[in-house]
Amino acid sequence: MVHLPSKISPLETSAPTTKLDLAQRPRRNRKAEWARRLVRENVLTADDLIWPIFLVEGERQRVPIASMPGVDRLSVDEAVKAAVLAAELAIPALALFPNTDPAQRDPRGSEALNEANLVCRALRAIKREVPDIGLITDVALDPYTSHGHDGILRGDEIVNDETVAVLVAQALNQARAGADIIAPSDMMDGRIGAIRTGLDGENFETVQIMAYAAKYASAFYGPFRDAIGTQAVLTGGKRTYQMDPANSDEALREVALDIEQGADMLIVKPGMPYLDILCRVKETFALPTFAYQVSGEYAMIMAASGNGWLDEERAMLESLTAFKRAGADGVLTYFAPRVAKKLKDMR
Ligand code: PBG
Repeated sequence: MVHLPSKISPLETSAPTTKLDLAQRPRRNRKAEWARRLVRENVLTADDLIWPIFLVEGERQRVPIASMPGVDRLSVDEAVKAAVLAAELAIPALALFPNTDPAQRDPRGSEALNEANLVCRALRAIKREVPDIGLITDVALDPYTSHGHDGILRGDEIVNDETVAVLVAQALNQARAGADIIAPSDMMDGRIGAIRTGLDGENFETVQIMAYAAKYASAFYGPFRDAIGTQAVLTGGKRTYQMDPANSDEALREVALDIEQGADMLIVKPGMPYLDILCRVKETFALPTFAYQVSGEYAMIMAASGNGWLDEERAMLESLTAFKRAGADGVLTYFAPRVAKKLKDMR
C-alpha cells in the first residue's frame, strides 16, 4: 500500500518526516555492487563477441580509418596478429572484410572468385597460425564491384538470380580457403538455399551459414564503406535489396525464408536502432541470433566520447549489454578487443 505524504505544503522545503509504508522497495536490490551482481539478469562475456576486421594489401600495414578511430585496416600478417590477440582474449570468432585494390574491382566483382584474393589469403594464414578461432566471411560483391553494389548491375537494376549464382561461387571459394561460417549480407532473394546446396554439393556440410536475415538500408553503414573503399564509387542506394527501416513484420518474413532455406544463425543489422527487431526475431524463432553494432554506431560513440561528451567505456559496455538484454546470443562489434580486455581485467 502506497501512502503519499499528505501534509506537504507547497512552501515546505525541508524533506518530509513521514515514513512511507512500502512492502516493495525495489532499491533494496540495488543497494550495493554485490547485491546488483547477485540479481543481474544479463552478463556480457568474451563468448558473446565477434570481431569484424578490415583487410588491406601489403605487409606490416595498419592503415587507420578516419571515421572509425581506433580501427585499422590490416595486412594479412597483421590480421594474423589480431587473431592471436583475439585467441588470448577468448574472442570466439573473427569476421573478415577486404578493402580490395581498386585495380582489382570490375562491374561483375570477379575478384570475389579469385582463390588467392585478400580474404582467401587471410583465411589460410590465420587458420595456419590460430587454428582454433572461428572465421566468418561476408558473402556479397560490394568489396569487389566497381560500382560498390552487392550484386550485378544491369542498367539501374541489381539482378537477383544472376547475382545469386555468383554468390554461390564466392561462398565456395571462401569455404575452400577455410571459412568456418559463411555470412551472406547481400539480401538477394533465395541466396541462403542456393549457397546451402552449393556447399553440400562440395561436402562442406559442416560449414555454417549465418544469414544477415534482416538487414536494413541504413545510414549507419557510412564509415564501413569508407573502410572498404566503396563510399566514393557507390551509385544510388541499396534500397531495392536492403530492407526499409520502417518495417518490422517484413523482418520476420525474411527470417522465416532464411531458416527454411538452411540458415543456422541469424544477424539483425544495424544494432541499437533495431533492438525491437532483434527482440521479435529471437522470441519468434529461437535460433542463435546476433546483432551487428555497425560502423556508424561505433563512430557515434567514439565521436561523442572523443569530444568528452560521453564516457567511452561505459557507453561501450552499456550498448553491448543492451543487445544481450534484447535477446542477442552475441554481437559483431568493432569494440570486441577493447571490451574483451576490459572484461578480462574486471575479473
Ligand atoms: C556489405 C556490408 C555492409 C556492412 C557489412 N557488409 C555495408 C553495406 O551493406 O553497404 C556494414 C557493416 C558496418 O557498417 O559496420 N555487404
